[in-house]
Amino acid sequence: MPMPLAVLVSGGGSNLQSILDKIDAGCIDAEVRVVVSNKAEAYGLERARKRGIPTWSRPHTEFASRQAFDAEMVRVIADHGISAGTGAVLLAGFMRMLTPEFLRAFPEAVVNIHPALLPSFPGVHGAADAADYGVRLAGCSVHFVDEIMDHGPVIIQAAVPALPGEGGEALAARILRLEHSIYPQAVAWLAAGRLKIEGRHVMVKRAQPATWGDAALPYLASPALEPGFLPAS
Ligand code: GRF
Repeated sequence: MPMPLAVLVSGGGSNLQSILDKIDAGCIDAEVRVVVSNKAEAYGLERARKRGIPTWSRPHTEFASRQAFDAEMVRVIADHGISAGTGAVLLAGFMRMLTPEFLRAFPEAVVNIHPALLPSFPGVHGAADAADYGVRLAGCSVHFVDEIMDHGPVIIQAAVPALPGEGGEALAARILRLEHSIYPQAVAWLAAGRLKIEGRHVMVKRAQPATWGDAALPYLASPALEPGFLPAS
């Protein structure tokens, strides 16, 4: 059975789109059952609607507490067949910290994408912070979520060169292209049961060490991206 997924978005949802596209292409054995947002105007919701995927959105400000908002999300997600031991929750540009109660409802099954090479530059402006700092290598990380922001065990990372004077926007755009490869790849591994968490380490069954890009899009992804997930150059 395809793994049931809930995807949480607060914005454009291009990562959601990349996952939907790879599901359609037969590269990921999963089904997005519901897309959830705290922002009614999030374009990610529109992407879901266009595909006939159920959506749910309520401003978190309508709820008395963070716990109350998260409890409602847990209820909605469970209503769509995702619960402890069944399915997973993907954060795709969801701009809120989740409560311990939420994480306990989906143990080892909440995953996030972050536009920096963790543990460097956690927080909401990862790519811009890296550019401002003047790093020469930047990148993105897919990781399991724990109670600390951008902190849980890393599944896959991709590094890209950062060019002097490039600015955060251009760097973020190049990183985003890689996000659209590494996030679907990580979800494919998760759905295929190929991930095992051992403390801080994530074992990826049958993974190769790394993939390199080329002159058109220089990058290093570790573990290696598999056929079907390589970025289009
Ligand atoms: C991405 O850069 C992601 O890494 C970060 O938020 C952004 C979301 O982009 N967490 P999108 O909504 O998927 O286009």
